[in-house]
Amino acid sequence: MLKAWLKSKISDRFLYKIRKQIADNIPGGSSVLEIGSGTGSQLIMLSPNIKEGLGVDIDSSMTQFAQKIAKEKRIKNIKFKVMNAQNLDSLKKKFDVGIAILTIHEMDYHTQISVLEKLSKISKKVIIADYILPNKTLGRILLYIDEHIAGHYKNFKLYLHNGGMKRVIHDANQSLIKKLKTSSPTIHIWICKFK
Ligand SMILES: C[S@@+](CC[C@H](N)C(=O)[O-])C[C@H]1O[C@@H](n2cnc3c(N)ncnc32)[C@H](O)[C@@H]1O
Repeated sequence: MLKAWLKSKISDRFLYKIRKQIADNIPGGSSVLEIGSGTGSQLIMLSPNIKEGLGVDIDSSMTQFAQKIAKEKRIKNIKFKVMNAQNLDSLKKKFDVGIAILTIHEMDYHTQISVLEKLSKISKKVIIADYILPNKTLGRILLYIDEHIAGHYKNFKLYLHNGGMKRVIHDANQSLIKKLKTSSPTIHIWICKFK
């Protein structure tokens, strides 16, 4: 739980404006599935405006933390479940919107493609927020250090080397609807759907 608490204090603040931008692209009354839901902050932010939300994360300390916060806030329309996003096809449900925030780059290439295909097959549209390679050297150095500390440097490096999200979206048979810049020079948002 310490890891989840630290994440909620550090990255959730950094991501606040990006979460708002994502929320602006989700119609009220939607059903939302988030893969790699972490501390649950995005779904918690969305909860007053959506019909229902399900967050899945491979890390049980994250889902426990997210569920605890939702309970404390008396939020009834969102749930969190421990699940590897590779097993999304076991969910017998379809959603209006699927989201993945800073999650795809943590996976190896084949998992990225398979997970994005599965997510888009059960969601009418998919919203992804993830890293791009910053233009400025300092930005690059900070991002590489951050990924080293986070412990998934190898997949992150390969993700950028392969062409980042542009390549993942192409290889996972997605039509790009919209691409948005964010308040962070290292993060973009892609909105897409299965071709
Ligand atoms: C950088 S965190 C982002 C958390 C959250 N999306 C947010 O906006 O704060 C990435 C999350 O993806 C989860 N994750 C990584 N690979 C996963 C997989 N294969 N299936 C489900 N969750 C995964 C990690 O456990 C982690 O909580």
